[in-house]
Amino acid sequence: MKSEFSEEEAAMPAMAQESPCTRVIAVTSGKGGVGKTNVVANLAIGLARVGKRVLVLDADLGLGNIDVLLGLVPRYTLEHVLCGSHRLSDIIIQGPAGIAVLPAGSGLPQLTSLTDSQQLILQSELEQVADTVEVLLIDTGAGVSPNVTFFAAAAQETIVVISPEPTSLTDAYALMKVLCRQHRERRFKVLVNMVKSQREATQTFRKLDVAAERFLNVSLEYLGFIPLDDYLPMAVIEQKAVVERFPCSPASRAFVQLAKKVAEWPDPQLPKSTVQFLWQQLIPMS
Ligand SMILES: Nc1ncnc2c1ncn2[C@@H]1O[C@H](COP(=O)(O)OP(=O)(O)OP(=O)(O)O)[C@@H](O)[C@H]1O
Ligand SMILES: [Mg+2]
Repeated sequence: MKSEFSEEEAAMPAMAQESPCTRVIAVTSGKGGVGKTNVVANLAIGLARVGKRVLVLDADLGLGNIDVLLGLVPRYTLEHVLCGSHRLSDIIIQGPAGIAVLPAGSGLPQLTSLTDSQQLILQSELEQVADTVEVLLIDTGAGVSPNVTFFAAAAQETIVVISPEPTSLTDAYALMKVLCRQHRERRFKVLVNMVKSQREATQTFRKLDVAAERFLNVSLEYLGFIPLDDYLPMAVIEQKAVVERFPCSPASRAFVQLAKKVAEWPDPQLPKSTVQFLWQQLIPMS
């Protein structure tokens, strides 16, 4: 049968015929408590405000708390999806600025100990949901455990959050080493949080960059900094994102700039079913 398309049209690049693929960004750190969840929440809202359809996946399995941070009360969580009683679309809750949130819940086992069928549920469900959004932001747990590296390696972009504390640098280094050795990750974007000045931010980044380049042979991109800001913990106590509660605070202004920068990243050069593509690299099919 003759095609309705001319030869030229049929040869047009996929982007002209398909919707843009989902950008998957993991926010991780090595050390706990450096601000990952706040970065994810505020970046998600910032991206939504510049018109992006954003889905947040709380991948801090067992200790998920982005719902608490945003004052949301989920009825169902990933736990229900993994036990097969609910679909991923049943557990999505709406957050501020229209962001969608997939809450993790608590008491989940490590992802590596999930059964094959649970892995398949997660894979196929996430693919369906994520294909309807432009940005999938993943809030990972701390540390270098397999469930952290799993999500970091599944993403197209990994944002490593660090703070000026020396332990934050050593833990970020350890995480990048694992991602580099086990998953051949060679590109990381680094966001410096809780700094008193721009100078402190660049000095902190430089320390990590020097060690990473010398011993790991990986390339780090400086993504900017979020200042240490008393308004941020005040917003946390009120269970609100700081960009919503104190929009003029220094941290909020930095998050707005960060979101604008991320929104301008060039489109990922991957097939349409990005999430499935990424997921299949990691989950062995049974
Ligand atoms: N820029 C900032 N200025 C002031 N305080 C901050 C800033 N960023 C984070 N904090 C403080 O650090 C706390 C921990 O932040 P958050 O929960 O986002 O870290 P996390 O990396 O997600 O932690 P975990 O590893 O436990 O998941 C916040 O509750 C807040 O009090
Ligand atoms: Mg967290």
